[in-house]
Formats: sequence, structure tokens, C-alpha cells
Amino acid sequence: MKPAIRVAVTGAAGNITYSILFKIAAGEMLGKDQPIILNLLEIPQAMGALRGVAMELEDCAYPLLQEINIFDNPEQGFKDVQYAMLIGARPRGPGMERKDLLEANAAIFSAQGKAINDHANREVRVLVVGNPANTNALIACRNAPDLNPNQFTAMTRLDHQRTQGILGNVLGANSKDVKGVIIWGNHSATQFPDLHHVHVHGKPALESVDEAWYREKFIPIIQQRGAVVIKARGASSAASAAQAAINHMRDWALGTGDDWVSMSIPSDGSYGIKKGIIYSFPVRCNYGRYEIVQGLDVNNFSHEKMIATQNELLEERSAVEHLLPPETAARMEDPFGRANTTEVTQLDDECLRAGPQIVKTDRVI
Ligand code: NAD
Ligand code: LMR
Repeated sequence: MKPAIRVAVTGAAGNITYSILFKIAAGEMLGKDQPIILNLLEIPQAMGALRGVAMELEDCAYPLLQEINIFDNPEQGFKDVQYAMLIGARPRGPGMERKDLLEANAAIFSAQGKAINDHANREVRVLVVGNPANTNALIACRNAPDLNPNQFTAMTRLDHQRTQGILGNVLGANSKDVKGVIIWGNHSATQFPDLHHVHVHGKPALESVDEAWYREKFIPIIQQRGAVVIKARGASSAASAAQAAINHMRDWALGTGDDWVSMSIPSDGSYGIKKGIIYSFPVRCNYGRYEIVQGLDVNNFSHEKMIATQNELLEERSAVEHLLPPETAARMEDPFGRANTTEVTQLDDECLRAGPQIVKTDRVI
């Protein structure tokens, strides 16, 4: 049996996590043969509800789930974790933009970045889902001076999948056949869902839809989809966000196959995007690493949209400057430059040395 992998999930008694935890435990994220240890994090007031979720996980008797641990503090919760999914944060309500959450949520990510820096496995892969996800990821990244910036990512996979699902529906195609989608920029209303490289069954998508419809109707549908779901459901997307987060981590860990995906990652200056922000690019993943897809044509229309969403991220960064230690600014200039591994590797992990363990029910019941 493979050694277990330790996965931390914050906001573990929330809506998204009520979907995600059961998928992780069933092997949908890291593979059907990959044993998992779950470290579940919540705020102290939610520990009662979290205990209930942990009981339900136990009651599913997942063969891959070797341990469930619950924590009300990030220092213990992130100890030795190899994957950290930062979901815990306030969601927006009707009429709000995601950046309106900056004040409420930003501080969470500086504390969590520090704790990940000090306690997680040196190869930890971090996904930020809590909004505004890109800037929260930047805050976490800038507060983790001992880790490589490229270990911190934010989620634009939901926007990517929305584009595949909705366009597939319009064209009468299966979403899996909608290939070459790109979400550029911020997970916000300025994001740019780019169809210029999309092919459906080998045919360019922009030969199948009207250009004016694409520019005036389709782009706003994707940009506003989160708000429309909130209006319809009375709560923000949860199951679709969970599926997107599973797919983001799965592809990062296990590879993207024949298509690329959209991930928000530290900009390295590709496509002329300013460094120092977490920006969504098309990436391919292999051997647990991601790489920006290079050499795609960008026309004037696309360039303008890509810069508009970059500028919003720069504004968001200015609003949280007080949470970004100046000494970590220079590392963002070369986010892929430093070696991604240090002397401490996964094999040094306490949990791996200990070998497989049974579920520790004392923390749950
Ligand atoms: P929710 O309110 O149902 O759950 C959030 C949970 O986080 C709560 O249980 C809360 O107690 C917990 N929490 C708050 N602060 C915490 C902390 N410091 N440590 C650990 N846990 C903490 O919200 P939700 O619907 O699950 O959404 C969570 C976040 O994800 C929101 O910010 C939402 O806007 C965002 N979101 C992002 C995307 C995306 O595509 N990036 C998609 C959907 C939702
Ligand atoms: C989404 O895109 O559904 C989430 O970011 C939630 C939101 O606030 O829109």
C-alpha cells in the first residue's frame, strides 16, 4: 500500500467542504489507490459542527481514509500537510463583489500563510478557494518566506468548467469535447474567458458561434455566473466549487492529460502580465508541477481584457499592502526560479515514517 498523504482542509464545517471532504476520502482527488489523512480546520465556534462532519466521514467507512483529525488552530492543523485547501472564509451575499470580502477575509490568509510556512511539509501544494481567492493566495504566499511562491495557487477552475459546460450546452457538445478554454486573470467580474483557442471536435469554437454574441453575451455570463447562482440559490456555489477544487488538485498532482487547464498562479511575466500577483493562466501539469502554456496568439481584444483584469489584481494588492511583508516582494520576481524542494522531503514526514494507521476515533467521537 502507498504511504498516506496528509491533506488539510479549512472551513471544514462549511458548505463547499460538505461536498469536498467526501470526494477526497473516496479517492477522487489523489487516486483510488492513495490512502489519505484528513486534517480538518475550523474556527473554535464551529468545532461542534465539525465533529459532526468528522463522524459522518467515519460512518462512510472509506477504505482510503486512514485518519481524521480536527483542529481549531492553523499551527497544529497544517503540521506536515502535503496538500492544503484553504476554503474557510466568508462568502459574499447578493449585490456584493468578491473584493468586498477583502476586509473580512484577508487576515485569515496571512495567519494561515505563516502557519503553513512554519509547519507544513516543504513540498506542500496550496489551493486558495476563499474569496477574493487570487489576492488571498497572494497574502498567504507572501507570508510564507521559506516556501516557493509557485506552491501557492488560487482557483479559477470553476470559471474554466463553467465555460466548458455552458459552451458545450450551447453547441450541443459534451463538455469534455470543449478543449482549449482559458480563463485569464482574476476570479472576479473582470476575468477574461477566452474562446480564441477553443476547439470542439477539432473545429474552432469561434467558427460556430457569432463573435458579437461571444463578446457581448457569453463573456458576461461567465463573469457573472457566481452572482447569478447566489441570487437563484440564496447561497454561493458549493458543489460546483468543490468539484472544481478536486479537479484543480487532481490535475496538479496527477497531470492534465491532453488538454490544458486554468490555474491562478504567481505571474512570471508570461504574456506581458506584471509579476507580483496571482493571475490565472493556461497551464499543463506533469510530475506534480505546472507550466504555463506559451506561444498562444493574443489579439488586441484579448490583450485589453487581460490587462484590465491584471489591473484589478494590482488594485486589490494595494488594498492589502499592510498584510504583505516587504521582504517577500522580491521573491515574486522569479516565482519559478527557486528549487521547489528543500532538504526536508515528503519521505521525512512523520506520518509517512509511521506507516499506515487506523482511524483515530478518539478525535472524532
Ligand atoms: P461557508 O460560510 O458555508 O463556510 C465557510 C466556513 O469557513 C465556515 O464554516 C467558517 O466557520 C469557516 N472559517 C471561517 N474562518 C476560518 C478560519 N480562519 N479557519 C478555518 N475555518 C474558517 O462558505 P462556503 O460557501 O463554503 O464558501 C467558502 C469560501 O469559498 C467563500 O469565501 C466563497 O466566496 C468562496 N468560494 C470561492 C469559489 C472560487 O471559485 N474560488 C467558489 C465558491 C466559493
Ligand atoms: C463563485 O464563483 O461561484 C464563487 O466565487 C462564489 C461567488 O461569490 O460568486
